[in-house]
Amino acid sequence: MKKIAVLASGGDAPGMNAAIRAVTRAARFHGASVWGVWDGYSGLVDHRIEELTSRGVAGIIQRGGCIIGAGRSRAFFEEACRIECVDYLRSEGIEGLVVIGGNGSLQGAAELQELGVPTVVIPGSIDNDIPGTEICIGVDTAINTAVEAIDRIRETASALQRAMIVEVMGRHSGYIAIMSGIATGAEMIITPERPVELDEVFKQMRLGGEHGKRHFIIVLAEGASWSATELARQVEDAPNPYDARYTVLGYIQRGGSPSRFDRILATRMGVAAAEALLDGRSGVLMAWRHNQCEALPLDELPPLSDPWDGSLEHIHRITAT
Ligand code: F6P
Repeated sequence: MKKIAVLASGGDAPGMNAAIRAVTRAARFHGASVWGVWDGYSGLVDHRIEELTSRGVAGIIQRGGCIIGAGRSRAFFEEACRIECVDYLRSEGIEGLVVIGGNGSLQGAAELQELGVPTVVIPGSIDNDIPGTEICIGVDTAINTAVEAIDRIRETASALQRAMIVEVMGRHSGYIAIMSGIATGAEMIITPERPVELDEVFKQMRLGGEHGKRHFIIVLAEGASWSATELARQVEDAPNPYDARYTVLGYIQRGGSPSRFDRILATRMGVAAAEALLDGRSGVLMAWRHNQCEALPLDELPPLSDPWDGSLEHIHRITAT
C-alpha cells in the first residue's frame, strides 16, 4: 500500500490528534503517503481530503479537538452514498483507511470494509462504549476532567450541606459516571446499566444525613432515567436532609489537552493501525487488552461488558457508611 487515508468520526475525543499524528508518521516511515479526510465521513461524501505530512502533524500531540474535524454524516447512512465514497477513494488511489471514532464510526468502517476498502478502526470516544477494547482514546482525559470538576463541587457542597447532582456524559454508557464517582468518593452513582428507584436515592440521602455527611454527591450518567434537572427537582420536592443543586458538565469533558495516558494510548494505537493496514491486515479494531494493542476482527467483537461489574460492588459498601 502506498496511499492511505485517515478520518475521525463521531464526537471528538481528546487524543484524536495524537492518533492522527501517529498514523501519519508511522505510514510515512514505511513509505506510504497519508491523506486526512475532513469532518469524518462527510469529507468522503463531498470529496474533502488533504495530504498530511510529518511537519503538518507536528505540535498536535498535546492538543484537544481534532485538526481534520470530526462529526457525523447522515448521508453516509445510505448505501448508495457509501458506494460513491468507495468509488471516490479508488479514484484518488487510496488503498486503505484508518477510522478513529466510536460506535457509529465502527459500523461505518465495517460497511466500507465490506464494500472492499481495507479499513482499520482506532477506538476514540469518551463514552468507552466500544466492545472488545478495555479503553478508548479520550476516556482517561474525560474522567480526569470530571474528577477535577466534582472535587470542586464537593467543596462548596460541604460548606452549605447540599446534595449536588453532577451529570456526566456517556450517551448510553455509565463508564465516565462510575469511574469519576469512584475517584471522587461520590455518595451515589446512577447509570443507565443499573437504574435505581427514587425511593432508594431518598433512603441513601437520609442515611447520609444520619451518618453526619455534610454533602451528598450524586454522579449521574446522562443516559440514566432522569436528567440532572429532573432529579434535583424531585429531591427538592421531597423531605430530604439536603438542599439540592445540579451541574451538567457537558462538553468540557470532550475538550482539553489529552492526558499522558491518552497521548500514549493514541500513539501506540495509531502506529499499530498504520502498520496493520500496510501489512495487509484490515477489517480489525485496534483493541487495548491486557496492557497491549491487539487487532480484533470487526465481525468477532465480544459483547460490551457492564462497567459496573461484580468487582466494583465493594465501592457501594464504602460510600454507604
Ligand atoms: O459520544 C460522545 C458524546 O460526547 C456523548 O457522551 C454525548 O451523548 C454525545 O457525544 C453528544 O453528542 P453531540 O456532540 O452530537 O451533542
